[in-house]
Amino acid sequence: MPEAMLREQEGRVAILTINRPDKLNALNQQVRDEALVHLNDIEKDDDIGVVVITGAGEKSFVAGADIGEFEGRSPFDQRHAMRSPRIFDIMSGYPKPVIAMINGFCLGGGCELAMSCDIRVASEKARFGQPEINLGLIPGGGGTQRMPRLVGLGNAMRLVLTGDMIGAAEAKDIGLVDQVFSPEDLREKTLELAAKIASKSPLTLKIAKEAVRAADRLPIEEGIGYERDLFCLAFSTEDKAEGVEAFLNKRPAVWRAR
Ligand code: COA
Repeated sequence: MPEAMLREQEGRVAILTINRPDKLNALNQQVRDEALVHLNDIEKDDDIGVVVITGAGEKSFVAGADIGEFEGRSPFDQRHAMRSPRIFDIMSGYPKPVIAMINGFCLGGGCELAMSCDIRVASEKARFGQPEINLGLIPGGGGTQRMPRLVGLGNAMRLVLTGDMIGAAEAKDIGLVDQVFSPEDLREKTLELAAKIASKSPLTLKIAKEAVRAADRLPIEEGIGYERDLFCLAFSTEDKAEGVEAFLNKRPAVWRAR
């Protein structure tokens, strides 16, 4: 069986490509299984600082869960298929930064996958939506919870209740994506961003990501207290000593992730 997920490496950046272009990279069990193996492996690999995830071909990032797998499946089997660990939760809790490079259709579970990532960079041709309503379903990969946090309740309601698709410009306007590039520039610009992030201390990145992610779940006062604790944790690292010393001596820092 061909690989459903391809892995490349450029410098300290791993690029994972969902590889079912004939099915618009719909997420089936094989994609999910291979993703977990790669993500497990990358998590332990000190040579990788950042992960970029994208879809094969020019048409689609991910056009949702594989609808073929829904047919004839009992609710109990579906519940089993949705057991932990789920790719969405792994992405959102992943210790290294993850960037979604959205090259085309970004629908249903694809949009949920993108929303689970830390940063979303899209092609001008990308199209976004949660079309589950048209199948008599609702988003099941965290979409009803992550989308309102990114785009507000009204925009999330509109997308979930209509199932309509929106283009990249509107997705950027409402905060669903962070940056939009021409299809020709998408890969280069995304890898530039990824390489810049991957050049920082892996340890400090982990702490920074943990702090920003906490904003999703903590009330502001608790979040600010948590940030102070994490700041002091960063303050205790060798990389902080190195970063400050390097700045004061006008030389580039050499990070040791300690
Ligand atoms: N699951 C399984 N197969 C899918 C799929 C999905 N989510 N999305 C697309 N495909 C398959 C199509 O069945 C088709 O396969 P085939 O060539 O064997 O018939 C192939 O991918 C190409 O899709 P097609 O529909 O022909 O492309 P299009 O350009 O006409 O339309 C979309 C593109 C995205 C509008 C359309 O494919 C679509 O609506 N997909 C479903 C999106 C969705 O509801 N996602 C949420 C799932 S919960």
